[in-house]
Amino acid sequence: MRITLGVTGGVAAYKAAELVRLLQQDAFIVQVVMTRGAREFITPLTFAALSGQKVITDLFEKSSSGEANLESAIEHIAVAQRTDLLLVAPATADILAKFARGVADDFLTTLYLATTAPVVVAPAMNVNMWNHAATQENIQVLRARGVKIVNPDEGYLACGMTGAGRLAGQQEIVAAVRETLYAQKDLCGQTVLVTAGPTCEDLDPVRYLTNRSSGKMGYAVAEAAARRGARVFLISGPVSLETPAGVERINIRTAEEMQRAVAQKFPGSSIAIFAAAVADYRPTEMQPEKLKRNKEPLTIRLEPTPDILAEAARTKGDRLIVGFAAETQNVAENARKKLASKNADLLVANDVTAEGAGFDHDTNIVTLFSRDGRDLALPKLSKSEVAQRILDEVVRLRALRNVQHSPV
Ligand code: CTP
Repeated sequence: MRITLGVTGGVAAYKAAELVRLLQQDAFIVQVVMTRGAREFITPLTFAALSGQKVITDLFEKSSSGEANLESAIEHIAVAQRTDLLLVAPATADILAKFARGVADDFLTTLYLATTAPVVVAPAMNVNMWNHAATQENIQVLRARGVKIVNPDEGYLACGMTGAGRLAGQQEIVAAVRETLYAQKDLCGQTVLVTAGPTCEDLDPVRYLTNRSSGKMGYAVAEAAARRGARVFLISGPVSLETPAGVERINIRTAEEMQRAVAQKFPGSSIAIFAAAVADYRPTEMQPEKLKRNKEPLTIRLEPTPDILAEAARTKGDRLIVGFAAETQNVAENARKKLASKNADLLVANDVTAEGAGFDHDTNIVTLFSRDGRDLALPKLSKSEVAQRILDEVVRLRALRNVQHSPV
């Protein structure tokens, strides 16, 4: 996804440099546009080095002969068309006024008019300027137009005063960007089944076999799908996580219970995402009484559990199926094999030995292997961001299938 970051002339302009880094960590491609005022506070070179892209500064860049260059004159249209979101941080009182009135006298203001992408604005200024009726009126106009405003924080300001006017925290700005981008309801009308967490396979009334799954990845997927408009059934093993808003949760303990719940909900679903770490084996029999300790070694016989994903996939019809694979070696090779053998459409593979990936982390490093041959290796991302990328891929695969199925 491409973000255009507009930097305007305020003391907080230097904070935009850190913002570039954070956005890139979330795998966004960042194109920086600076106003003349911003260049008084920080050089374009800083942003060019951080973003790895040429920074746009002028509406009419001059050629070496001093003439206005036609290419640069129409560049704002090209940037406007390829950007997925316009973020302005910090936004001065001046830029808010120009956006509100539709003034187009430099690259950024022209871009604002030319783009149909969503716009997020993070103002930063002196407290009196922020509270001034003129600024507040402009904010109302922009809000009413659908612009997302990330309100400034209160605190000590560069001008020596205290109050509202400090640029909001970078994490808060990035969260607003994500929320705005994914506010799309592209899963409206879909019913999504998600399995999550570990299963527990009982040995006797007090002991069981389980694994280290926290359920975080599956819960993030369920939450993201609900936000994107889907009806979501979350079939969950025992975890200590809150049920995400708008999600219908069904608690299970064992692989067998999970299989029954899936069998019940799968027929009514259009998308099924199997994120659970189902125990592959269970004791052949559950002892009715607690096993007593004695001096002899104990052998426990295990039998395989049903492969819930593979069984559901047998009656998959038009449903789109997503599987997960936790690997410790030959990730791509194993993932492609699993994608085919399980009759899935998308396989989310992670190398659980990598730093920042796998069990109980808030981040994950995954590659998405799709049925149509696409491999998408994602950098280290928060699990909620990974969830969004998985759903982006699901939406893409559904659209592809609809094109293929539609009559010519
Ligand atoms: N899965 C399932 N039922 C099982 C086992 C796994 O539904 N009994 C699902 C998981 O939710 C996941 C995928 O299948 O989506 C993982 O497949 P699997 O082949 O079990 O992966 P690994 O456990 O990683 O396999 P292996 O140990 O053979 O590498």
